[in-house]
Amino acid sequence: MPWREQLIQQHQNRVAAKVWRKRQASQAAVGRELRINGKTYLNFCSNDYLGLANHPALADAAIETIRERGTGAAASHLICGHQDIHQALENELAAFVGAEKAVTFSTGYMANLAVPQTFLEKGDLVVQDRLNHASLIDAGRFCEVNLKRYRHLDFAHARTILVKSNANKKLLTTDGVFSMDGDQAPLHELTEVCRHTKSLLLIDDAHGFGVLGKTGAGSLEQHGIGVGGGVLMLGTLGKAAGSFGAFIAGDAVYIDSLIQHARSYIYTTALPPSIASATRAAIKIIQTEPDRREKLNANITYFRQAVDELHLKTLDSKTAIQPILLGDSETALQATELLRQQGLWITAIRPPTVPEGTARLRITISCEHHQNDIDQLITALRSDAMRKLSETIQ
Ligand SMILES: Cc1ncc(COP(=O)(O)O)c(C=O)c1O
Repeated sequence: MPWREQLIQQHQNRVAAKVWRKRQASQAAVGRELRINGKTYLNFCSNDYLGLANHPALADAAIETIRERGTGAAASHLICGHQDIHQALENELAAFVGAEKAVTFSTGYMANLAVPQTFLEKGDLVVQDRLNHASLIDAGRFCEVNLKRYRHLDFAHARTILVKSNANKKLLTTDGVFSMDGDQAPLHELTEVCRHTKSLLLIDDAHGFGVLGKTGAGSLEQHGIGVGGGVLMLGTLGKAAGSFGAFIAGDAVYIDSLIQHARSYIYTTALPPSIASATRAAIKIIQTEPDRREKLNANITYFRQAVDELHLKTLDSKTAIQPILLGDSETALQATELLRQQGLWITAIRPPTVPEGTARLRITISCEHHQNDIDQLITALRSDAMRKLSETIQ
């Protein structure tokens, strides 16, 4: 079949399976509210957990740097794109998470790609939680290593796979907070498994950095586990930090290897310095305004208590990611539409982003939400129409 017809056929199949994705262009800053097609909605699906994406301090820092340095880094880090602003950011990130060194990447996706490619060779093994983020899974797929997946959160299964393997080098990777489920990896147990099997451990803390731990340094801080030795931490900067990009932190010898060998670091333009400046401003706020985390946690508790009384199919999440499972894609789309009619924006998450039969509303809570906003969401979730939709999965 010629290309064009094949693609049209694929599109039709997607539409029929209710998994065709439509982008919606928002017409204002993304925050507690969203403006789409001229209408304002309460936004319950962004990753702006601390309300920093539209914070004036980040905008001012970015604008000041643009005036001084222009818009682009103009080269990769190893040519002439690395500026003192990137360096300062990396130093501050390392100090924040308690690591010897950190390196920034243009995106979390690229940072994840870097790790197996840098540290493993053909025939080595990468072991992953079954529900890891797509970028971790792709990182394992895109290089010539063996990729094995263990049952979600099942560290004993991970241990069995690692013990059985006679690969030269082994890497275990896991989300710290699972991006679509909101639950958390058993970090103590996984650290122990990796120590026992001499495996390197990479924690992708995209959804923990900024919000978890006493100071907001993330899941590892929350668990009292240091970054270093055989433990690498990845944080993304486009979620709680409200900016863009990502970093990997760990012992200098590992970070230096990434700088030398990671293709997704070497062969790409450095982050715009203005973005690095905005991130530095965000880190300062995260470190000096713990009340943002407190407000976020209060909002999560408030939502959780209210939603638990509705008998919807929620997951055991204590984080800002609060899914409601609906089953098939069509039901999830109907739920999204129902909520939109009530002024609430929550995009349906469907396969292949989540496993078949687990399409869902991925509700995210921010410190910017008012109690009234959460009340409005709960009222909408309590409606008869919503209850009928959720019954299909129970
Ligand atoms: C767990 C996880 N890791 C990595 C990423 C990728 O980060 P980025 O958006 O910076 O590419 C995301 C989300 O996008 C994520 O949820």
